[in-house]
Amino acid sequence: MDGAVFLDRDGTIIEDRGHLQSESQVVFFPETFNALRRLQREFPLFIVTNQSGRAKGILTPEDIDRVNRYVVSALAGYGIEIEDVYVCPHSREDGCECIKPNAFFIDMAAEEYGIDPRRSYSVGDHPHDVSFAGNAGGKGVYVLTGHGEKHIRELNPDTIVMPGIKEAADWILINKAMDEGGQALREGFERAVGCIKNGDVAAVPTETVYGLAANALDPVAVAKIFEMKGRPAFDPLIVHVAGIAQAESLVAFMPQEARRLAELFWPGPLTLVLPKNERVPDIVTSGLPTVAVRTPDHPLALALIQETDIPLAAPSANRFGRTSPTTAEHVRQEFGDELEAVIPGEACRIGVESTIISFADEKPFLLRPGGLPIEDIERVIGTLSPCPPQSESPGAPGMLPRHYAPQTPLVLDSALEDVQLTGRRKGLLAMQEVGNERRWDKVETLSECGDLQEIAANLFAGLRRLDAADLDIIVAETVTEEGLGRAVMDRLRRAAHDG
Ligand code: TXA
Ligand code: MG
Repeated sequence: MDGAVFLDRDGTIIEDRGHLQSESQVVFFPETFNALRRLQREFPLFIVTNQSGRAKGILTPEDIDRVNRYVVSALAGYGIEIEDVYVCPHSREDGCECIKPNAFFIDMAAEEYGIDPRRSYSVGDHPHDVSFAGNAGGKGVYVLTGHGEKHIRELNPDTIVMPGIKEAADWILINKAMDEGGQALREGFERAVGCIKNGDVAAVPTETVYGLAANALDPVAVAKIFEMKGRPAFDPLIVHVAGIAQAESLVAFMPQEARRLAELFWPGPLTLVLPKNERVPDIVTSGLPTVAVRTPDHPLALALIQETDIPLAAPSANRFGRTSPTTAEHVRQEFGDELEAVIPGEACRIGVESTIISFADEKPFLLRPGGLPIEDIERVIGTLSPCPPQSESPGAPGMLPRHYAPQTPLVLDSALEDVQLTGRRKGLLAMQEVGNERRWDKVETLSECGDLQEIAANLFAGLRRLDAADLDIIVAETVTEEGLGRAVMDRLRRAAHDG
């Protein structure tokens, strides 16, 4: 049985504006959507709210219902499903069973939905929201939004206190990953923490690809990344930060549109190129006046940044120009004993690198298509400008024409007519189930049903398997350039070469 997350409503996921009667009074915190989307990947979500306005005669049952239904449907619009909403309509004086911190509704969810209270978490801006899960054997997280600041003195000293819902989600996801990872994870993680603090390099999983990380503020540590990868010094690195506050400590300023994107999509596969400040060493940015920053959506990467309190410069953990690694095993194949610490983790969920948006010019523009569809970005800040010609070089080698390449020659099936296949050992990188597999010496099917997310997630691993199959040539099928399809086609074109 799995746990669930029980979210307080007012002051936790929406602003606390007193007794809410109508939809128009509901204001979500900007970071709520991404935080709940991330939690939902691991837990069913419940809202548990106390509406004492009912007992006081300020709210009718219809008012409460209207607002709750609106909150649930607004979240659904962002792809977030709330399993159930539980309401206690009493005031404390009523002495009811269902008021927090009584675990009444958690027990009810256990009965109705089969969740495990001991693996569950509650989040809220009142001390009772914290003891709520505690009383059911789970864990509570306190947030400083809403009434959080006001009641802070009443907290038990060992309470987990977080600035808001984003950080609460981080904490819960890290706590779960560490609990489940066992001894091997804890050891790998501790070794990585040691390496980073000592100015050495460690491999860390992110949601996109595995990264080769070092202290971004230590030029000697960063030089080790360049050396290990054989990466040219003109290719700047992405700095991985815990969130907006840490990003701000590295930049001269953050334009409003950049902040909005960070609020909505961090942690996530979005990198922002912003004017840097003097704290960022030149080696990180290859001497450019800008720095690339992102917050990775992976509990172990976040845990490493938080535990060391160090921003991490990290390119993909492969030798320069080669296929990016999406498993710890790929990293080991690439670097073997050269690397002291590789944090073990499951295969990277997204599988292609982050989308990079530059704010180096007046208008934001796309530097690299990646794991966050540009359609999602344009919905927030409008149509992106075309990439100005001077930014192609020297600053953007993810933009080099040949990159991500297997050793075996690779052609796109759209360019097949020019290529001689007969008599050669040939492999197919297929985007969906293929009919005549026997035409090929080896076939890697990235997704049986042609699902783009699955294709992206399996892309680099599929390329690696074909590369290891002793073929003369790899033929790659193509996908439509929409959503994640853009990133997939971008990587395939750069992987293409004739030997
Ligand atoms: O998903 C990802 O972004 C992964 C994981 C590890 O976070 N990282 C990654 O890093 O893909 P890498 O080294 O493959 O890509 C870094 C690219 C550079 O090649 C360049 O195109 C761009 O980021 N970049 C970095 N700093 C820049 C800057 N100041 N101006 C323009 N582009 C920059
Ligand atoms: Mg509250």
